[in-house]
Amino acid sequence: MIDLSTHCAGIRSPNPFWLASAPPANSGAQVQRAFDAGWGGAVWKTLGQPIQNVSSRFGALHVGGRRGVGFNNIELITDRPLEVNFKEIYETKRKYPKHAVIVSLMVETREEWKEIIKRSIDAGADGLELNFGCPHGMCERGMGSAVGQEPRVNQEITSWAVEYSTVPVLVKLTPNVSDIVPHGLAAQRGGAHGVSLINTIKSIIGVDIDRFIPEPRVGLQSSNGGYCGAAVKPIALHMAASLARHPEFKIPISGIGGICNWRDAVEFILLGSTSVQVCTEVMLKGYRIVEDMIEGLTEYMRSHNFETIDQMVGKAVPAYSDWGDLDMNYETVAKINAESCIGCNLCMVACDDGAHQCIHPNPNGTRVPVIDESECVGCNLCQIVCPVESCITMERVDNGYAPTTWNQFVNEGKTLRPKKGAH
Ligand SMILES: Cc1cc2nc3c(=O)[nH]c(=O)nc-3n(C[C@H](O)[C@H](O)[C@H](O)COP(=O)(O)O)c2cc1C
Ligand code: SF4
Ligand code: SF4
Repeated sequence: MIDLSTHCAGIRSPNPFWLASAPPANSGAQVQRAFDAGWGGAVWKTLGQPIQNVSSRFGALHVGGRRGVGFNNIELITDRPLEVNFKEIYETKRKYPKHAVIVSLMVETREEWKEIIKRSIDAGADGLELNFGCPHGMCERGMGSAVGQEPRVNQEITSWAVEYSTVPVLVKLTPNVSDIVPHGLAAQRGGAHGVSLINTIKSIIGVDIDRFIPEPRVGLQSSNGGYCGAAVKPIALHMAASLARHPEFKIPISGIGGICNWRDAVEFILLGSTSVQVCTEVMLKGYRIVEDMIEGLTEYMRSHNFETIDQMVGKAVPAYSDWGDLDMNYETVAKINAESCIGCNLCMVACDDGAHQCIHPNPNGTRVPVIDESECVGCNLCQIVCPVESCITMERVDNGYAPTTWNQFVNEGKTLRPKKGAH
């Protein structure tokens, strides 16, 4: 029997899929429709002193035929009155007692934190998320990423929130730092029950090359914004995993950043996330994407014999190691399946110009190129460019050398296999 329910940092939800704090979680009507569609939780659009927003405020990166591979916004926190938000949080929680309603907060002074936390809990919040991540607008006012980038401030404000809160506190971290670990540890020292990451990445999405103005355009000007969507997933995965594998980091993670489907969600869970949050993909496709996410995750769990989310959390973390601990003697070469090859030669061009010049026209004049395995360094590039699924495979070579890492080579003088491609 497969059970999708989770308890991230003590916050229970019927499945691990939460709306991230953003426009899709801006109002009670929206969050309730999302719950009806199947979302297990929602992090309410950040509450604080309501602000005025600019117009326009979104931009997107379109790559090839796909629109919105990356997304960018210069929007700030809620622009709706606090009383309205709290009333709608109360109503939503009353109607959906089993779903998780987490309230995202961003204010300035200790007194303001105390008051807004009390009001959130009175409204029925199952948890709080401290927004230390917004990279535009609020940081210039000493909030958002201005807090998330300074571990001592992060720790102190977290400790205030934990002191005033009777429900779990998640700290939402900014990716606009060189190493996420000190920031996650600061939140933990402050008493956070968990962290959420990532918020958006400081960015300029593009330039209007006819008007000479960056995008999104506000009259004749623009400003840097926050980058998110499918394109940021690798950065988010790395940051979540960096915390998950750190020996001193012990609190749960709610993974965010570029999650578009069940597979992305599984990747975040395997790298240590107990719940996952989605913003951009919902903005682009609507709440109903969660149906596929639930079905896909359930099927994945069935096929891998997982009964609970807990059994999956962090399963891939032990395999994430430092480069110096990788086996330098592990060797692969590319092989082409002659049956499925369509002779497009994309692999040959890529290997010639971007790798090690070891794919050659077939001397028999047939369409299938040949790989000189004695020169192939096993870099994967040809497999990446090949348009035919599974036509190029990377296969292990038994070279007779015992597994040896770079660290063992340097520290213990162990033997490395001879280098290839060094001509
Ligand atoms: C238009 C927009 C508004 C957002 N507003 C907030 C916000 O108020 N509070 C917050 O913590 N994060 C906010 N975010 C960040 C998202 O919650 C999320 O961390 C980020 O978009 C990465 O997830 P994604 O790749 O699924 O979009 C916003 C993102 C977007 C695109
Ligand atoms: S794996 Fe790399 S080096 Fe080997 S054939 Fe492919 S592109 Fe060339
Ligand atoms: S890219 Fe793939 S299909 Fe095209 S020639 Fe190479 S192996 Fe064949």
